[in-house]
Amino acid sequence: MKDVFRAHQVTDTVWWVGAIDWSLRDFHGYATYRGTTYNAFLVIADKVALIDAVKGPFREELMARIASVIDPKKINVIVSNHAEMDHTGCLPQVIAAVEPDHVYASEAGVEALQAHFHDLDGLEAVGDGATIDLGGRTLRFFETKMVHWPDSMLSYMPEEKLLFSQDAFGMHLATGERFADEVPRDVLGSEAAKYFANILMPLIGPISRAIGKVQEAGIELDIIAPDHGPIWRRSEDIDFIVGRYVEWCAQNPTLKAVVVYDTMWGSTDQLAHAIGEGLKAGGAVPKLMPLKGSHRSDIATELLDAGALLVGTPTLNGNMLPTVADALTYIHGLKPKHLVAAAFGSYGWAPAGVKQVQGTLDAMKLNVVGDGLKVRFVPDDDDLKTAYALGTAVAEKVKAACGGA
Ligand code: FEO
Repeated sequence: MKDVFRAHQVTDTVWWVGAIDWSLRDFHGYATYRGTTYNAFLVIADKVALIDAVKGPFREELMARIASVIDPKKINVIVSNHAEMDHTGCLPQVIAAVEPDHVYASEAGVEALQAHFHDLDGLEAVGDGATIDLGGRTLRFFETKMVHWPDSMLSYMPEEKLLFSQDAFGMHLATGERFADEVPRDVLGSEAAKYFANILMPLIGPISRAIGKVQEAGIELDIIAPDHGPIWRRSEDIDFIVGRYVEWCAQNPTLKAVVVYDTMWGSTDQLAHAIGEGLKAGGAVPKLMPLKGSHRSDIATELLDAGALLVGTPTLNGNMLPTVADALTYIHGLKPKHLVAAAFGSYGWAPAGVKQVQGTLDAMKLNVVGDGLKVRFVPDDDDLKTAYALGTAVAEKVKAACGGA
């Protein structure tokens, strides 16, 4: 066991025993430039509980951090709040090593864990509102389906006013600091926004319901301990992150218009710049994101508070460019709402690429302007004026959506 790893104390009875993944740069398609953490927590009351585990390769780090405060064999209870493998990859090995009296998950969690690990016996389902007594500390469970998966639940410890929130209120951020008040606020804001946009944006309905459920239960929060990133312990920080979630769930548009495009010989690039000028002249705030330098997950983050999405592609062999297909497929899956949209691009023989983009924007049920601007080979001055006019037309719609003229 690697005894260089130590637990970090959170409260009198709670210890952080997770793992820091400094080198992670891709989380199923999301660029994690700052790595991540897989948080797990130890509650040492009369009984000892482990809340969540870590990704498979980090098992030794988890076990070493636990062993720095208590013999892992003294763990009586393991709670799995969420079955995704970044929190359960090593769970079968941890259960085998610890031999706890109970392993709890939601009903859907038990099913998901069995579907992942197949021979994991002895799992016990806890219902919504169920509590377990650890002797001096209790855990109350809240089912929060689809925040992030159907199995997801929260565990609340009333004695410490502490919410173990699994993916909710987390971020992908590897740090030596364990608490949000030790990390610059601008880093917290940008990484939390990126996490919400790329992981939770398609789930704003369930997230709003989960926030409402916790508020209706009247629970008080002194600490929110998510499964990724720093722990929120100051009231101003808790207000900050909960407030951002309420704001992001509302998906209120702003004047920002995101122009995503790639180009073969510069024609679609010329159109993007002309559209950008038109957007600006019309009162929107253009944000051009050429795909030669913009990652799909950064585009998603920009869309979190945008008012428009414009997508440009040339046609290559009867299709949109593969880079555009990549970004658009990813964005489609995240289900952004309340966006004005438009398609544009160049072609040589037939404008199949723009038609495909237009079809996807329609399928996303966005407020699509026009039927796709298509320019053969290289735009002339009239084409560029048409692109500029598309920008101003989109800007007008965005301003109207924002409550302006
Ligand atoms: Fe961090 Fe949905 O797993």
